[in-house]
Formats: sequence, structure tokens, C-alpha cells
Amino acid sequence: MRTTTLVLGATGKTGRRVAERLSRSGTSVRIGSRSAGIPFDWERPATWGPALRGIGAAYVTFQPDLAVPGALQTVRAFFAEAVGAGVEKLVLLSGRGEPEAQDAEKALQATRADWTILRASWFNQNFSESFFLDPIRAGEVPLPGSLAAEPFVDVEDLVEIAVSALTSNAHSRRLYELTGTKAITFPDAIDQIGRACGRNIAYIPVSMDDYRAELVRQQVPTEYIDLVMYLFGTVLDGRNTPATDGVQAALGRPARTFSDYVRRTAVTGVWGGLNARS
Ligand SMILES: NC(=O)c1ccc[n+]([C@@H]2O[C@H](COP(=O)([O-])OP(=O)(O)OC[C@H]3O[C@@H](n4cnc5c(N)ncnc54)[C@H](OP(=O)(O)O)[C@@H]3O)[C@@H](O)[C@H]2O)c1
Repeated sequence: MRTTTLVLGATGKTGRRVAERLSRSGTSVRIGSRSAGIPFDWERPATWGPALRGIGAAYVTFQPDLAVPGALQTVRAFFAEAVGAGVEKLVLLSGRGEPEAQDAEKALQATRADWTILRASWFNQNFSESFFLDPIRAGEVPLPGSLAAEPFVDVEDLVEIAVSALTSNAHSRRLYELTGTKAITFPDAIDQIGRACGRNIAYIPVSMDDYRAELVRQQVPTEYIDLVMYLFGTVLDGRNTPATDGVQAALGRPARTFSDYVRRTAVTGVWGGLNARS
């Protein structure tokens, strides 16, 4: 039986944690990254074969998002190559409320591999390891005022399920819709973070047009701007506001709360403020 697991996005928010946990528990891990010894690049299919050689299971996170044009064709081709290379188990990180991501899920379910699908809401960790971090540090977070409340999920919960799915049959052919315990508005999220680290952090509601114009002014690449505007206009239009019991169903315990995430993260000093270590 093949015992090495390929972790795609292994330097990112979920993949890094999945790879660390697997390694700690003694599982042999192949890092999926453009800069790994055996590189993996979604945009260079020639890298897929070497990365898949000898692999038994894979954690699949697509970049930049399953909703971008061409993503379905790319992941379908990857699934086929993985199954052809003898991979038996594929665990896919998917996005909630994105019709294109749901098409990618179906493509995985149509393969002969064993699968688990983690259809996740927005991550708590976007506030500390991704696009909201810099504005929070700067003390001003401009965001479209139209954004709906989101039941942010903690990546620690997601990673726990991914690792279990990669190392056992417990989540075989299961699709989990993963959210936190309840929806939080963006102003509330920023307020909780500000209070936890003892800083004044202003939430500044702007129009979608002004938000786009600011990204253009900052010379953010057009494809990235289009993706962000799609996510803000579609994924955060209210369709995903209801919380689910996916974490409870998968782990037999409630999801971690947003306030717990804020407490844990504030003391690391990443947001600065009174509780910062440095
Ligand atoms: N963030 C969220 O709230 C959220 C919610 C639900 C679903 N998702 C989905 O989760 C996936 C990951 O998103 P994320 O925001 O959490 O990002 P992330 O995993 O933190 O993103 C960075 C990772 O992507 C890798 N990467 C970047 N470009 C790549 C390429 N061309 N080929 C191979 N690897 C590449 C990077 O590896 P190297 O730079 O080392 O190559 C790095 O490991 C996406 O499909 C996203 O739609 C995200």
C-alpha cells in the first residue's frame, strides 16, 4: 500500500497545517508547492506527474479559486491524472456557495477514487494570515458595506477533518459543508479584533465601485480584482449566511467560535496592540 500523501497548497493556510499534522503523526508527506524539491504548479501540468508518483492520498486545494474560468477543466484533468497514477484517496477543499466549485466537486465524485469534500465558508484566518491582515494592522479596514454576515470557519477545524479523511476511512465519500457556529458581520468581526488587542480599528463601509477603484489604484492585477469582486458580490451576498452543523457531523463536537479564534490570535501579537509580544 502507498503511504505517502501529497499536500497541495502546502505553504498556504490549510495545506501548511495539514502537512505539519501528518508529519507529526508519522505520515510521509510530499509538499505540493511551486518551490518544492519536486515542484507542483497548477499552471504547468507537466509538473503534476512527478508530484503524483508513488502517492496514495492527496489533499487538493486549487489556486486561486475553483470559480475562476478554466478551473473545472484543470481540476478534472488533475483528478484523471491522479487516479491514473494510482492515487486512491482525494480530499478536496471547496468553497461554499460557488456554483463553479460545486461543478468541481461533481467531477471528483465521478472519478473512481475514494473522496471527501470539504465545502468551506470563509476562513477566520483571512483576518490574520491573508488579505484582511494589512488593513487591520493599519487600523482602517475599508470594505463594501453590502457584504452579508458570514459564518467564518476556523481552519483548525477544517484541517482536523482533512487529516482524519486522509489517514482513515472515517469520512469516505462524505461531503461536509463547514462553517463556524454563527454568522458574524464584518463590522462585528473588526470590532472583536480591535477590543481583543486593545486597538482602535475602524471599519469603513464603501461602495463596491469605490472598493474596485481602490484596488485598481493599488495596481492589483485585474484577474485578482475580478475574483475579489466576484467573491464579494456572489459568495457574500447573503446566500451563505446560515451556519451549518458540518463540523459537528464530522468531528462529533461543535465548531470553534470566532471569539475563540480572536482570543487565540490576539495574544500572538499578529494584530499589534496591548497584548502583542513584540
Ligand atoms: N480563504 C478562504 O476563506 C477560503 C474559503 C473557502 C475555500 N477556499 C479555497 O481554498 C483554496 C486555497 O485558498 P486560500 O485562500 O486558503 O489560499 P492558501 O492555501 O493560503 O494559498 C496559498 C497556497 O497556494 C499555493 N499556490 C499558489 N499558486 C499556485 C499554483 N499556480 N500552483 C500550485 N500552488 C499554488 C501556494 O504555494 P506556493 O506559493 O508555495 O507555490 C500556497 O501554498 C482556494 O481554492 C480557495 O478557493 C478558501
